[in-house]
Order: sequence, then C-alpha cells, then structure tokens
Amino acid sequence: MRKKIVAGNWKMNMELAEGLKLAESVDTYFRLKPSRAEVVLCTPFIHLAGVAELLKDGKLCLGAQNCASEPSGAYTGEISPAMIKSTGAGYVIIGHSERRSYYHEDNDILNRKAKLALSNGLKVIFCVGEVLGERESGKHFEVVKNQVENGLFNLTAEEITNVVVAYEPVWAIGTGLTATPEQAQEIHQFIRGLFSEKYGKEIAENLTILYGGSCKPSNAAEIFSMPDVDGGLIGGAALKKDDFIAIVEAIR
Ligand code: PGA
Repeated sequence: MRKKIVAGNWKMNMELAEGLKLAESVDTYFRLKPSRAEVVLCTPFIHLAGVAELLKDGKLCLGAQNCASEPSGAYTGEISPAMIKSTGAGYVIIGHSERRSYYHEDNDILNRKAKLALSNGLKVIFCVGEVLGERESGKHFEVVKNQVENGLFNLTAEEITNVVVAYEPVWAIGTGLTATPEQAQEIHQFIRGLFSEKYGKEIAENLTILYGGSCKPSNAAEIFSMPDVDGGLIGGAALKKDDFIAIVEAIR
C-alpha cells in the first residue's frame, strides 16, 4: 500500500511565535489521536528549527517550501538542502507554481534542486499543474507530462522512491475553485501512467500523488476517495488548526 500524505504548505504566513503555536497545537492533537496519513508541516525557513524541536519524538514530519539549487557558497539569501536537513526537516516542496511563475523557476533549475535535495537525504514534494488557459485549451496533459519528464525523469529509480508528486491545477490554488474529483483522478492516473512507463509498474504503484488547490474540510473526503489521489497539499486551510486536522482526518 502506498503512503497517504497530507502536507500543509504555510507559504509566506505566520510570524515566528504564531507558527510555533500552530505547529504545537497540531502536534498535540496528533500525538493523542494518530492520523491515518503521514502529516507534514511545510513552514517558512525561519520556523524549521523551532518546529523541529516541538515535533521531536512525535508523529508529524517537517518540510521546507523551497531550497537552493547549489550546495553552498556565495549565494546571498539562499538556503541549501543540507541546511534544511540540519534543522531536522525531512521534506522540501520543489516546483510550486508560485515559484515557477513569480520566481521564474523552470524545469531545469527545479530538476537541479530536486537532485540536490535528494542527495542530501530530503524527500521531495514535486509540484506540477497547468494554468487555466492550458486547461481550457485541452493542453493540461501535455503540460503536466512536460513538467514531470523534464523535472524528474533523469532521476534514478531509487531517487524516485523519495519523491512525492503534487498535482496542483494553478487555477484552483487559493481561488476557491477546485478540480472535481473526476478531474483530479483523471490526471493523477495519467501521472502514475507516466511513471509506470518510465520506471515500471511497481515504482508507479508506490508513488504518492497529492492533490492541491483549494482543498478544504468540505471537499477533502470526496477528492481523497479517488483511487489515484493519495492525499493533499494544503495551502490556506493549513493555517487553521481545525480545518487542517479535519482534512487530515478525511483520509481513509
Ligand atoms: P490552497 O493552496 O490550498 O490555498 O489552494 C495549495 C497550494 O498552493 O499548495
């Protein structure tokens, strides 16, 4: 059985004290009532070390939202995968659509980031997804195929076992619009098929594929019930303890 994961992507929200408080309350909840899914909190860099301390010996995992494409050196303002790992975090999100569009990160740089993160022992949550115009013109399969192939397909089979794919239709991120469960299933199945062709059935069957884009307590159970949807990458709703917990509990 492949792993189910619900990851909260806090984005650029929460000052230090607020973030620690949120992490502590989510952590306390799941210590008392273990979840069926692996729960990952992807916080801003400044929270990582403090949240890692809180989560110690508990059930939750910790991740960053981005990393540098170079291992170390004169790259002012950048944070390397080794630095992230040294805080106690185990995951990093790479290729979020906000990184692709606002910071012009292309498949080539995202591939370098993914490789470097994996070689430093981090698990990668690699995001793909089309914009509205691409969906409307029926290009979403082609766009996602391109992102998957150019972002990930030079990784080894062993490296792929530490990759989670997040399908996030850009038109659904933070907009309140959600893909229908059928739209999510169709493209998740397509993504799994791409991995099956490239890496074989077993690796594809074990690949966790998350849905992201306005996932909330009211729609999570339906989306997560689809056979190729293995959990979610949650933005806005991850900032509210009760909503995030309800989404995690929608995993069956
Ligand atoms: P959203 O964001 O849940 O606020 O739509 C999801 C994401 O960007 O990861």
